[in-house]
Amino acid sequence: MARCVRCCCCVLVLLLVALGIVAAVVFVRNRNGGGGGGGDHPVPGSVDHKYAEALAVALQFFQVQKSGKLVKNEIPWRGDSAVDDGQEAGLDLSRGMYDAGDHIKFGFPLAFTATMLSWSVLEYGGAMEAAKQRDSALDALRWIMDYLVNAHPADDVLYIQVGDPEVDHKCWERPETMSEKRPLTKITANSPGSDVAAETAAAMAAASLVYKPIDASYSSSLLGHAEQLFSFADRHRAAYTRTFPELAKYYNSTTYQDELLWASGWLFHATGNGSYLAYATGKNGEDFADLGNPRYFSWDDKRPGTQVLLSRVSFFASQGAGVAEENGGLESYKQTADAVMCILLPDSETAAFRTEGGLLYVAEWNSLQHPVASAFLAAVYGDYMLTSGKTELTCGGQSFSPADLRKFAQSQADYVLGDNPMKLSYLVGYGDGYPQRVHHRGASIPADVNTGCGGQQWLESPDPNPNVATGALVGGPFKNDSFVDERQNVMQNEATTYNSALIVGLLSGLLTTSSVAQSLSS
Ligand SMILES: *[C@@H]1O[C@H](CO)[C@@H](O)[C@H](O)[C@H]1NC(C)=O
Ligand SMILES: *[C@@H]1O[C@H](CO)[C@@H](O)[C@H](O)[C@H]1NC(C)=O
Ligand SMILES: *[C@@H]1O[C@H](CO)[C@@H](O)[C@H](O)[C@H]1NC(C)=O
Repeated sequence: MARCVRCCCCVLVLLLVALGIVAAVVFVRNRNGGGGGGGDHPVPGSVDHKYAEALAVALQFFQVQKSGKLVKNEIPWRGDSAVDDGQEAGLDLSRGMYDAGDHIKFGFPLAFTATMLSWSVLEYGGAMEAAKQRDSALDALRWIMDYLVNAHPADDVLYIQVGDPEVDHKCWERPETMSEKRPLTKITANSPGSDVAAETAAAMAAASLVYKPIDASYSSSLLGHAEQLFSFADRHRAAYTRTFPELAKYYNSTTYQDELLWASGWLFHATGNGSYLAYATGKNGEDFADLGNPRYFSWDDKRPGTQVLLSRVSFFASQGAGVAEENGGLESYKQTADAVMCILLPDSETAAFRTEGGLLYVAEWNSLQHPVASAFLAAVYGDYMLTSGKTELTCGGQSFSPADLRKFAQSQADYVLGDNPMKLSYLVGYGDGYPQRVHHRGASIPADVNTGCGGQQWLESPDPNPNVATGALVGGPFKNDSFVDERQNVMQNEATTYNSALIVGLLSGLLTTSSVAQSLSS
């Protein structure tokens, strides 16, 4: 193992050099009309206006969801809220974001939001910049990271929740006028939570890569938190919803092992330290990655994300460096990532179910989560293929191209933006028709009304929301492509912060015809 660790380090250097050469070659080829996905598309660098406009809308939701004392607030109906969060522990937990239409800061999905925002900026920051949206993404990310850093005051202590969901969910009120107690929940060595600690480690590691060229000291502080949190998560293994069973009805992490693998993948990219790669590809990978079985990416299941993230190493090592050949575990991740792509492609023999309108359909509750998350992975994977000069994806006896992956990714984004049987945009604030009664406390109550806990009349009102929750990606349609725009329809019409992070990633990936995958650690 030790030999492999050293070896991986030098291989990584070679890999980065090789990647630079390959990236340049692919970029030139695309400019000449080859690769990419056909001559009638714009060359990389020219931004698609539809996706750019939708991205600008989607990013607004992070402004809507901000907790704490706001800085340069651009949402007219939002103001300061929860400024004392964390005080009972002597911590400033005022920042961060509310989870959805409620006012709880749930650490598990919030950290996932930050990981996904970081991944989007790392893969597609250049395109975001060209669309003038990168600063907006970075503003959202920083607001979450500042909170997560403060939530981790000691090696084996992480605050994972602010607010009491039992109390909060019975109240219908604006965050600005909230007066209920905001109790804190923390994990420690004696009351552990590997899933939430590891997801937070992943967020810290991914964000440390984002900030590396922008703010070196912040970046290295984030990396320090990432390493400590990963070690905490790994040494004290338990699911946080087993430690706190009362939380299982909110975000019940099915297993914690997927987050450990995901975090080790991000830590490998952030540090170049081969022991993190060995962690994911060795026995832990065999035991927990469920290699060979394609799955759907979500806040609960990080395995497909880890497969794609680690396939990066295989794609860019194959140009002479040979990490993949030496590391059978890594190759299994790549093969499983291929299998994930095969279930996503509509013309593949292993294609998963989709609605008549063409939406990949996995779950009725928050039905857009899986197709949007999967489409993001497809866009990323297609770009890895292009950048590394791999033009063919094999699914059984069939062969597909990066352009097929992009077409799938685009089809899911287009469905979300209104190309669907309801002719409805599920991204609030985008297009001509979008849900008017999103299940969202702040959006549903006029900004000058103080309801206290008892604003239920606004929940029950049949009228449209007085405020637009711009950028909210609602839960989405039924299996028959229909959708009911009622405020109490939580299954279909609630917005979540992590949903918006997923659509931000997908739209960023579609801004240009194809993007050149850059080294993550440059
Ligand atoms: C939470 O997940 C665990 C593991 O999958 C499961 O056994 C348990 O029943 C779930 N609890 C709830 C309330 O869904
Ligand atoms: C790599 O990470 C492991 C685990 O955190 C640590 O023990 C080791 O010292 C690191 N190696 C290097 C070269 O930094
Ligand atoms: C679509 O499915 C939903 C949920 O199963 C059902 O309530 C509704 O009636 C269906 N609509 C149509 C037009 O079939």
